[in-house]
Amino acid sequence: MSKTVLVTGGTRGIGHAISAAMAKAGYKVAANYAGNDEAAKATADELGIHVYKFDVADYDAVGAGIAAIEKDLGPIDIVVNNAGVTRDAPFHKMTKDQWQQVIDIDLTSAFNVTRQVWDGMRERSWGRVINISSINGQKGQFGQANYSAAKAGLIGFTKALAQEGAKKGITVNTVCPGYIDTEMVRAVPEKVLESIISTIPVGRLGKPEEIASMCAYLASDDGAFITGATMTVNGAQYIAG
Ligand code: CAA
Repeated sequence: MSKTVLVTGGTRGIGHAISAAMAKAGYKVAANYAGNDEAAKATADELGIHVYKFDVADYDAVGAGIAAIEKDLGPIDIVVNNAGVTRDAPFHKMTKDQWQQVIDIDLTSAFNVTRQVWDGMRERSWGRVINISSINGQKGQFGQANYSAAKAGLIGFTKALAQEGAKKGITVNTVCPGYIDTEMVRAVPEKVLESIISTIPVGRLGKPEEIASMCAYLASDDGAFITGATMTVNGAQYIAG
């Protein structure tokens, strides 16, 4: 029987591409989303997958969402913690709300989701957790003290959890996309974005599919010995040691 994968924020941007790659690989796909019903319906129709609306920042809402997915599709074997938002501002202008929203949606969400599928993965002695971080969690980014902190937090979360999952057949990895051609990146002021692209040696934005293929590999049996890793996919914009 094919495995079930939950992709948070799985109906738009990088998440949409991950949902598509997972469906193509033959998994049963549950794509979570927060608010955009139209995009979710379009993705469900296009990919023939299930979509579930719940707030990944709310532990109880995540629990209810996971229960609904498992009732429909069976136990969740693979989780891609992809949901995320930006609230960019220089630190001297950053509000408590801008800080808290990004920490809750981009970092605490990974706890909320992973904690509630972890016991099942341990019981079945198999699991995959893939945390979507960012180049900006690796190098820091002007205007993103909140986002860089959350995304760096995911890298530490991964490294700790990989050690706990290892004996139970659960791999835990981070994927760090660089600047990828999505709505989120296109929202950066044009002049700023142009200057960012000029620092990418490959000379272009990445494609969502270039992140999705990495996730599909990490989810597969071929990825069984990769755990605790930080997979950098950024066109050489930042070469992490
Ligand atoms: N390094 C140094 N100085 C910078 C700078 C940088 N990267 N960016 C801006 N500044 C300076 C400006 O030159 C300006 O200086 P002066 O006051 O001396 O003129 C000062 O900072 C303030 O700039 P603004 O007036 O433009 O400030 P703002 O409040 O309007 O906006 C900002 C600042 C929100 C940070 C804006 O510059 C911005 O959006 N930057 C892009 C941030 C970014 O890369 N976000 C990534 C989003 S995509 C994503 O996050 C996906 C992913 O994972 C990669």
